[in-house]
Amino acid sequence: MNRTEKGLLPFLEQYNASGVSRFHMPAHKGNFPLYAGLPLSRLDITEVQGADSLYESDGVIAETEARLATVYGSRETLLSAGGNTLCIQAMLALAARPGGKVVCTRNLHVSAVNAMALLGLEPVFVYPDRDRAGGLPGTASPAAYAQALSGAPDACAVYLTTPDYFGVRSDVAGVASVCRARGLPLLVDNAHGAHLRFLSPDRHPLSLGASLCADSAHKTLPVFTGGAYLHIGDPAFDRAAAKDAMALFGSTSPSYLTMLSLDACASYLETDARRDFAALCQTVAALEALAVSKGFSLPAGDRDPARLSLGTLSAGCTGERFARHLRAHGVEPEYVSNGWVVLLPSPFNTPADFDRLRQALDAFIPAPPLPCPVPEDLHPARVMTLREAVLAPCELLPVARCEGRVAACAKSPCPPGVPLVMPGEKITGKLKNLLADYGLNALKVVK
Ligand SMILES: Cc1ncc(COP(=O)(O)O)c(C=O)c1O
Repeated sequence: MNRTEKGLLPFLEQYNASGVSRFHMPAHKGNFPLYAGLPLSRLDITEVQGADSLYESDGVIAETEARLATVYGSRETLLSAGGNTLCIQAMLALAARPGGKVVCTRNLHVSAVNAMALLGLEPVFVYPDRDRAGGLPGTASPAAYAQALSGAPDACAVYLTTPDYFGVRSDVAGVASVCRARGLPLLVDNAHGAHLRFLSPDRHPLSLGASLCADSAHKTLPVFTGGAYLHIGDPAFDRAAAKDAMALFGSTSPSYLTMLSLDACASYLETDARRDFAALCQTVAALEALAVSKGFSLPAGDRDPARLSLGTLSAGCTGERFARHLRAHGVEPEYVSNGWVVLLPSPFNTPADFDRLRQALDAFIPAPPLPCPVPEDLHPARVMTLREAVLAPCELLPVARCEGRVAACAKSPCPPGVPLVMPGEKITGKLKNLLADYGLNALKVVK
């Protein structure tokens, strides 16, 4: 897109006018009928009398929350206008104990790493033993969690990120039963799975035994950016404590527009969501079949049937080249890496969007497969706690000069926001090269 004027508004207007097919977040795609014609700036208010108050809700906001709890079958569902990040901060604050450890895989989102650092929690990593084909992060089996827990007597929670960015789902029910046996809460970052409740069968983590679950509603449902849900499934956690935990981190001025969109979405979830997601999954299955016939590969394991993640190397091209091909057909993907392109379809993509995607796949001419490098497991050594490292005096250095130093922050390509290095970890030569390969040129290190 050629930019003619400076500033955000001209960019957004041009992007909108370009008519590009949005296979990226947010899932409303600028196309959710309930928002059409709403006078948005007139609806952006604050906590005036009668408007309720997010962190002490007992009026109109609480009514929406109660409807969503019914829709999701939760004990309580709380709105967030601070994204899933705020829900993750609250989940970890609810489970935190002084000096507590959280058992998790390493592909957790940077928001969880930062929240643990602030709360003085330390991760104990479980390493994926499944679904790692094509250089994807993979998932860890319940047995791997049980083993990690046997070495972590001071664990205060298990933290699962599922589905991952590529739509690969972990065995939530299996990990939940491991947690029950240890009497520990299972916290699930379900950022990419708010819609899973509306598939058949229901695959939502709360339905599979999560104690607390954070859904980034704007990623897969018709919600404005920043709208998310915190669901409570376990009676050990109560609503008032969860509200307090959100208030600990959240802005005192949550956006009424974002909350309005969570409310409008509740009406959609009560009515058309199941029907629309069933149709979406059929469309995605047909696109997947077409892509496979052209040589693309799909992630191994249990996939979210509403997401389209395509491995491009098996079709003889890099992710970047395939993304250029998609853009030439008017399709903007969600994520592109050397070997993968992630598309995020939703019920609010139009038939014309799907036609473009189909035409792009039809027109693609595969070539002999390219080699798929198997990423090395680096397992950097932790020499300081997360908290010590983020609070330590630090300096910003070019990555090329960071070998032997200790990271003072999490560093991740975004998306997907999964850190390559975490605070407190020592930078080895290999890690330094990996950061540079991802185009990350500077890093804050402990002085
Ligand atoms: C796995 C995961 N968790 C959490 C988040 C943070 O969600 P939000 O951007 O809604 O705050 C993201 C965002 O991309 C994510 O991918």
